[in-house]
Amino acid sequence: MFEKLNILDEKDKRLRQISKDATFPITKEEKKLIKQAIDELTYSQIEELSKKYDLRPGMGLAFPQLGLNKRIIIIVHEVEDGVFDEYVFVNPKIVSYSEEMIAAEAGEGCLSVNRDVEGHVPRHARVTVEGYDIDGNKIKIRAREELSIAFQHEIDHLNGILFYDHINPKKPFFNENEIRLI
Ligand code: NI
Repeated sequence: MFEKLNILDEKDKRLRQISKDATFPITKEEKKLIKQAIDELTYSQIEELSKKYDLRPGMGLAFPQLGLNKRIIIIVHEVEDGVFDEYVFVNPKIVSYSEEMIAAEAGEGCLSVNRDVEGHVPRHARVTVEGYDIDGNKIKIRAREELSIAFQHEIDHLNGILFYDHINPKKPFFNENEIRLI
């Protein structure tokens, strides 16, 4: 049975809090939410299922968006048609990043932001992220391009930051000479 998550809206102040480190073992309830988030993010990227369950497409979620003040993020990345890589990072930390910056040409979206926000969000083209899996084992990933943006977006949530905080209101758009648009 698919159960839709309750995702907080941007107006909710809880999205602006700094989340606390999660502790091990991860509780049953937390594991259930992680599983639900993976399902929902996956379904949301499959047209037929996104229509069926009325889901807005999204590739990532962070626990604060579920009203939980814990440093856990979930990313479901479509690597080719219908093939998804799943990432669950507990207490993720960006340990290094490229100097090169990129931005999603179409702008970013967020499951907590139910409107279009125009503007380019500058992000590092590559990041190395360390953290733990749900069993407490150390994990590490080097993410690039779209996946790098997703990790930075979700880790921002853990620090109370929303993507549009990075958009410069005086200069919301970059050209190709200023930043690589993807
Ligand atoms: Ni978001």
